[in-house]
Amino acid sequence: MFDLTGQVALVTGGAKGIGKGIVQTLCKAGARVIIADIDQQQGKATAKEFDCSFKALDVTSQEACREVVAAVIKDFTKLDILCSNTGIFPQANLAEMTETQWDQTHNVNLKGTFFVVQAAMAAMCKNGYGRIVITSSITGAITGYPGWSHYGASKAGQLGFMRSAALECAREGITVNAVMPGNILTEGLAAQGEAYLEEMKRSIPTHSLGKPEDVGHAVCFLASKEAGFITGQTIIIDGGQVLPESPEALL
Ligand SMILES: NC(=O)c1ccc[n+]([C@@H]2O[C@H](COP(=O)([O-])OP(=O)(O)OC[C@H]3O[C@@H](n4cnc5c(N)ncnc54)[C@H](O)[C@@H]3O)[C@@H](O)[C@H]2O)c1
Repeated sequence: MFDLTGQVALVTGGAKGIGKGIVQTLCKAGARVIIADIDQQQGKATAKEFDCSFKALDVTSQEACREVVAAVIKDFTKLDILCSNTGIFPQANLAEMTETQWDQTHNVNLKGTFFVVQAAMAAMCKNGYGRIVITSSITGAITGYPGWSHYGASKAGQLGFMRSAALECAREGITVNAVMPGNILTEGLAAQGEAYLEEMKRSIPTHSLGKPEDVGHAVCFLASKEAGFITGQTIIIDGGQVLPESPEALL
Protein backbone atom coordinates (compact mmCIF):
# COMPACT_ATOMS: atom_id res chain seq x y z
CA MET A 1 0.00 0.00 0.00
CA PHE A 2 1.30 3.46 -0.90
CA ASP A 3 1.46 6.07 1.84
CA LEU A 4 -0.79 9.08 1.14
CA THR A 5 -0.56 10.58 4.62
CA GLY A 6 -1.23 14.32 4.50
CA GLN A 7 -2.47 14.22 0.90
CA VAL A 8 -5.82 15.87 0.11
CA ALA A 9 -7.99 13.91 -2.32
CA LEU A 10 -11.26 14.84 -4.02
CA VAL A 11 -13.36 11.93 -5.35
CA THR A 12 -16.32 12.71 -7.63
CA GLY A 13 -19.10 10.13 -7.63
CA GLY A 14 -17.63 8.86 -4.35
CA ALA A 15 -20.96 8.22 -2.62
CA LYS A 16 -21.26 4.64 -3.81
CA GLY A 17 -19.93 2.00 -6.19
CA ILE A 18 -16.42 2.30 -7.57
CA GLY A 19 -16.09 5.80 -6.14
CA LYS A 20 -16.77 4.46 -2.67
CA GLY A 21 -14.09 1.79 -3.23
CA ILE A 22 -11.67 4.55 -4.22
CA VAL A 23 -12.61 6.57 -1.11
CA GLN A 24 -12.05 3.53 1.11
CA THR A 25 -8.62 2.78 -0.40
CA LEU A 26 -7.41 6.39 -0.30
CA CYS A 27 -8.55 6.72 3.34
CA LYS A 28 -6.71 3.50 4.25
CA ALA A 29 -3.56 4.95 2.65
CA GLY A 30 -3.85 7.99 4.94
CA ALA A 31 -5.31 10.61 2.60
CA ARG A 32 -7.81 13.25 3.72
CA VAL A 33 -10.71 12.58 1.38
CA ILE A 34 -13.54 14.79 0.19
CA ILE A 35 -16.47 13.06 -1.53
CA ALA A 36 -18.28 15.16 -4.16
CA ASP A 37 -21.54 13.67 -5.39
CA ILE A 38 -25.01 14.60 -6.61
CA ASP A 39 -26.55 12.14 -4.12
CA GLN A 40 -26.36 14.08 -0.86
CA GLN A 41 -27.93 11.44 1.38
CA GLN A 42 -25.67 8.60 0.22
CA GLY A 43 -22.66 10.92 0.01
CA LYS A 44 -23.05 12.06 3.62
CA ALA A 45 -23.52 8.45 4.79
CA THR A 46 -20.35 7.31 2.99
CA ALA A 47 -18.41 10.30 4.34
CA LYS A 48 -19.52 9.36 7.86
CA GLU A 49 -18.55 5.70 7.32
CA PHE A 50 -14.96 6.62 6.36
CA ASP A 51 -14.63 9.74 8.52
CA CYS A 52 -14.15 12.09 5.57
CA SER A 53 -15.88 15.19 4.14
CA PHE A 54 -18.75 15.62 1.72
CA LYS A 55 -19.58 18.32 -0.83
CA ALA A 56 -22.72 18.31 -2.96
CA LEU A 57 -21.79 18.46 -6.66
CA ASP A 58 -23.40 18.03 -10.04
CA VAL A 59 -20.42 17.64 -12.38
CA THR A 60 -22.44 18.94 -15.35
CA SER A 61 -22.07 22.47 -13.94
CA GLN A 62 -18.71 24.12 -14.62
CA GLU A 63 -19.40 26.72 -11.96
CA ALA A 64 -20.24 24.07 -9.35
CA CYS A 65 -17.00 22.16 -10.15
CA ARG A 66 -15.00 25.37 -9.65
CA GLU A 67 -16.85 26.11 -6.40
CA VAL A 68 -16.18 22.65 -4.96
CA VAL A 69 -12.46 22.87 -5.74
CA ALA A 70 -12.38 26.38 -4.22
CA ALA A 71 -14.12 25.04 -1.10
CA VAL A 72 -11.55 22.24 -0.82
CA ILE A 73 -8.70 24.76 -1.03
CA LYS A 74 -10.42 26.94 1.60
CA ASP A 75 -10.93 24.01 4.00
CA PHE A 76 -7.73 22.02 3.36
CA THR A 77 -5.37 24.67 1.79
CA LYS A 78 -4.48 22.39 -1.17
CA LEU A 79 -5.66 19.66 -3.51
CA ASP A 80 -3.16 16.87 -4.26
CA ILE A 81 -5.34 14.18 -5.82
CA LEU A 82 -8.43 14.31 -8.04
CA CYS A 83 -10.33 11.14 -8.87
CA SER A 84 -12.78 12.04 -11.63
CA ASN A 85 -14.98 9.00 -11.27
CA THR A 86 -18.56 10.14 -11.82
CA GLY A 87 -20.35 8.29 -14.58
CA ILE A 88 -23.74 7.09 -15.74
CA PHE A 89 -24.48 4.17 -18.06
CA PRO A 90 -28.12 4.17 -19.16
CA GLN A 91 -29.04 1.65 -21.87
CA ALA A 92 -30.36 2.92 -25.23
CA ASN A 93 -30.25 1.14 -28.56
CA LEU A 94 -28.83 3.31 -31.31
CA ALA A 95 -31.93 2.99 -33.50
CA GLU A 96 -34.12 4.60 -30.82
CA MET A 97 -31.57 6.80 -29.04
CA THR A 98 -32.69 10.39 -28.56
CA GLU A 99 -30.45 13.43 -28.67
CA THR A 100 -31.31 14.01 -25.00
CA GLN A 101 -30.06 10.53 -24.03
CA TRP A 102 -26.84 11.08 -25.99
CA ASP A 103 -26.31 14.52 -24.42
CA GLN A 104 -27.06 13.39 -20.86
CA THR A 105 -24.46 10.63 -21.02
CA HIS A 106 -21.84 12.91 -22.55
CA ASN A 107 -22.65 15.79 -20.21
CA VAL A 108 -22.03 13.70 -17.09
CA ASN A 109 -19.25 11.39 -18.32
CA LEU A 110 -17.19 13.52 -20.67
CA LYS A 111 -18.07 17.17 -20.09
CA GLY A 112 -18.17 16.51 -16.33
CA THR A 113 -14.63 15.13 -16.56
CA PHE A 114 -13.51 18.23 -18.47
CA PHE A 115 -15.09 20.58 -15.90
CA VAL A 116 -13.71 18.92 -12.80
CA VAL A 117 -10.23 18.24 -14.21
CA GLN A 118 -9.97 21.84 -15.44
CA ALA A 119 -10.94 23.18 -12.00
CA ALA A 120 -8.54 20.85 -10.16
CA MET A 121 -5.69 21.51 -12.60
CA ALA A 122 -5.84 25.25 -11.92
CA ALA A 123 -5.53 24.65 -8.17
CA MET A 124 -2.79 22.03 -8.56
CA CYS A 125 -0.71 24.27 -10.87
CA LYS A 126 -0.48 26.85 -8.08
CA ASN A 127 0.99 24.16 -5.81
CA GLY A 128 3.23 22.59 -8.49
CA TYR A 129 1.93 19.11 -7.67
CA GLY A 130 -1.03 16.95 -8.59
CA ARG A 131 -2.28 13.47 -9.39
CA ILE A 132 -5.39 13.22 -11.56
CA VAL A 133 -6.97 9.80 -12.11
CA ILE A 134 -9.98 9.43 -14.42
CA THR A 135 -12.31 6.43 -14.24
CA SER A 136 -12.86 5.38 -17.86
CA SER A 137 -13.90 1.84 -18.86
CA ILE A 138 -13.00 -1.08 -21.10
CA THR A 139 -16.32 -0.28 -22.85
CA GLY A 140 -15.72 2.04 -25.77
CA ALA A 141 -11.93 2.13 -25.82
CA ILE A 142 -11.58 -1.68 -26.22
CA THR A 143 -14.96 -3.41 -26.18
CA GLY A 144 -18.53 -2.67 -27.22
CA TYR A 145 -21.89 -3.70 -25.84
CA PRO A 146 -25.33 -3.30 -27.45
CA GLY A 147 -27.13 -0.30 -25.96
CA TRP A 148 -23.98 1.51 -24.96
CA SER A 149 -22.83 3.36 -28.08
CA HIS A 150 -23.26 6.73 -26.32
CA TYR A 151 -21.62 5.44 -23.13
CA GLY A 152 -18.76 3.79 -25.03
CA ALA A 153 -18.12 6.99 -26.98
CA SER A 154 -17.99 9.01 -23.75
CA LYS A 155 -15.60 6.55 -22.08
CA ALA A 156 -13.26 6.40 -25.11
CA GLY A 157 -13.50 10.19 -25.26
CA GLN A 158 -12.21 10.43 -21.70
CA LEU A 159 -8.98 8.71 -22.81
CA GLY A 160 -8.48 11.12 -25.70
CA PHE A 161 -9.05 14.00 -23.29
CA MET A 162 -6.66 12.46 -20.75
CA ARG A 163 -3.70 12.17 -23.17
CA SER A 164 -3.73 15.83 -24.22
CA ALA A 165 -4.40 16.99 -20.65
CA ALA A 166 -1.37 14.95 -19.50
CA LEU A 167 0.85 16.83 -21.95
CA GLU A 168 -0.49 20.22 -20.89
CA CYS A 169 0.19 19.35 -17.23
CA ALA A 170 3.57 17.67 -17.74
CA ARG A 171 5.76 20.57 -16.61
CA GLU A 172 3.47 21.50 -13.71
CA GLY A 173 4.23 18.43 -11.56
CA ILE A 174 0.80 17.05 -12.39
CA THR A 175 0.14 13.59 -13.84
CA VAL A 176 -3.11 12.63 -15.58
CA ASN A 177 -3.88 8.92 -15.92
CA ALA A 178 -6.94 6.71 -16.26
CA VAL A 179 -8.19 3.40 -14.91
CA MET A 180 -10.28 1.18 -17.17
CA PRO A 181 -12.51 -1.08 -15.10
CA GLY A 182 -14.21 -4.12 -16.53
CA ASN A 183 -17.31 -5.41 -14.76
CA ILE A 184 -17.21 -4.30 -11.14
CA LEU A 185 -20.12 -5.20 -8.89
CA THR A 186 -21.63 -1.84 -7.94
CA GLU A 187 -25.16 -0.55 -7.45
CA GLY A 188 -25.04 0.81 -10.99
CA LEU A 189 -23.95 -2.53 -12.47
CA ALA A 190 -26.45 -4.51 -10.41
CA ALA A 191 -29.19 -2.32 -11.91
CA GLN A 192 -28.44 -3.92 -15.31
CA GLY A 193 -30.15 -7.05 -13.98
CA GLU A 194 -29.21 -10.60 -12.96
CA ALA A 195 -29.04 -11.90 -16.56
CA TYR A 196 -26.43 -9.25 -17.42
CA LEU A 197 -24.35 -10.05 -14.32
CA GLU A 198 -24.38 -13.79 -15.11
CA GLU A 199 -23.46 -13.12 -18.75
CA MET A 200 -20.52 -10.97 -17.62
CA LYS A 201 -19.27 -13.56 -15.11
CA ARG A 202 -19.18 -16.10 -17.95
CA SER A 203 -17.21 -13.60 -20.08
CA ILE A 204 -14.44 -13.07 -17.51
CA PRO A 205 -11.62 -15.66 -17.28
CA THR A 206 -11.73 -15.48 -13.46
CA HIS A 207 -15.51 -16.16 -13.61
CA SER A 208 -16.02 -13.43 -11.02
CA LEU A 209 -16.97 -9.76 -11.04
CA GLY A 210 -14.56 -7.18 -9.67
CA LYS A 211 -14.93 -5.33 -6.37
CA PRO A 212 -14.84 -1.51 -6.07
CA GLU A 213 -11.64 -1.79 -3.99
CA ASP A 214 -9.94 -3.58 -6.92
CA VAL A 215 -10.23 -0.31 -8.82
CA GLY A 216 -9.34 1.64 -5.67
CA HIS A 217 -5.95 -0.07 -5.39
CA ALA A 218 -4.99 0.85 -8.97
CA VAL A 219 -6.16 4.43 -8.37
CA CYS A 220 -4.13 4.56 -5.15
CA PHE A 221 -0.98 3.59 -7.08
CA LEU A 222 -1.52 6.22 -9.78
CA ALA A 223 -2.31 8.79 -7.05
CA SER A 224 0.93 8.10 -5.20
CA LYS A 225 4.11 10.22 -5.29
CA GLU A 226 5.91 7.11 -6.50
CA ALA A 227 3.89 7.12 -9.77
CA GLY A 228 5.19 10.60 -10.65
CA PHE A 229 6.91 9.50 -13.89
CA ILE A 230 3.75 7.84 -15.24
CA THR A 231 1.40 10.11 -17.15
CA GLY A 232 -1.16 9.77 -19.94
CA GLN A 233 -1.43 6.03 -19.25
CA THR A 234 -4.13 3.50 -18.46
CA ILE A 235 -4.52 0.48 -16.18
CA ILE A 236 -7.13 -2.15 -17.04
CA ILE A 237 -8.82 -3.81 -14.05
CA ASP A 238 -11.06 -6.48 -15.56
CA GLY A 239 -10.03 -9.98 -14.42
CA GLY A 240 -8.72 -10.58 -17.94
CA GLN A 241 -12.05 -9.95 -19.69
CA VAL A 242 -10.49 -8.30 -22.76
CA LEU A 243 -7.82 -11.02 -23.22
CA PRO A 244 -9.33 -14.24 -24.64
CA GLU A 245 -8.45 -15.08 -28.25
CA SER A 246 -10.47 -18.30 -28.01
CA PRO A 247 -13.54 -19.47 -26.05
CA GLU A 248 -11.39 -22.07 -24.19
CA ALA A 249 -10.16 -19.31 -21.88
CA LEU A 250 -13.70 -18.93 -20.61
CA LEU A 251 -14.57 -22.61 -20.03
N1 LIG B 1 -19.40 -0.75 -12.46
C1 LIG B 1 -18.70 -1.09 -13.50
O1 LIG B 1 -18.63 -2.28 -13.84
C2 LIG B 1 -17.95 -0.08 -14.31
C3 LIG B 1 -17.15 -0.54 -15.36
C4 LIG B 1 -16.39 0.37 -16.08
C5 LIG B 1 -16.42 1.71 -15.76
N2 LIG B 1 -17.21 2.14 -14.75
C6 LIG B 1 -17.19 3.58 -14.44
O2 LIG B 1 -16.97 3.77 -13.06
C7 LIG B 1 -17.61 4.95 -12.62
C8 LIG B 1 -18.52 4.63 -11.44
O3 LIG B 1 -19.45 3.63 -11.82
P1 LIG B 1 -20.30 2.82 -10.73
O4 LIG B 1 -20.59 1.48 -11.31
O5 LIG B 1 -19.64 2.93 -9.41
O6 LIG B 1 -21.65 3.68 -10.77
P2 LIG B 1 -22.74 3.95 -9.62
O7 LIG B 1 -23.99 4.30 -10.35
O8 LIG B 1 -22.78 2.79 -8.67
O9 LIG B 1 -22.16 5.24 -8.87
C9 LIG B 1 -22.00 6.46 -9.57
C10 LIG B 1 -21.91 7.62 -8.61
O10 LIG B 1 -21.87 8.84 -9.40
C11 LIG B 1 -22.81 9.77 -8.85
N3 LIG B 1 -23.29 10.69 -9.89
C12 LIG B 1 -24.10 10.40 -10.95
N4 LIG B 1 -24.33 11.52 -11.68
C13 LIG B 1 -23.64 12.53 -11.07
C14 LIG B 1 -23.47 13.92 -11.36
N5 LIG B 1 -24.07 14.51 -12.40
N6 LIG B 1 -22.65 14.66 -10.55
C15 LIG B 1 -22.06 14.08 -9.47
N7 LIG B 1 -22.19 12.78 -9.15
C16 LIG B 1 -22.98 12.02 -9.94
C17 LIG B 1 -23.93 8.90 -8.29
O11 LIG B 1 -24.73 9.58 -7.34
C18 LIG B 1 -23.13 7.74 -7.69
O12 LIG B 1 -22.72 8.01 -6.38
C19 LIG B 1 -18.36 5.50 -13.84
O13 LIG B 1 -17.56 6.49 -14.45
C20 LIG B 1 -18.49 4.30 -14.75
O14 LIG B 1 -18.56 4.66 -16.10
C21 LIG B 1 -17.99 1.29 -14.03
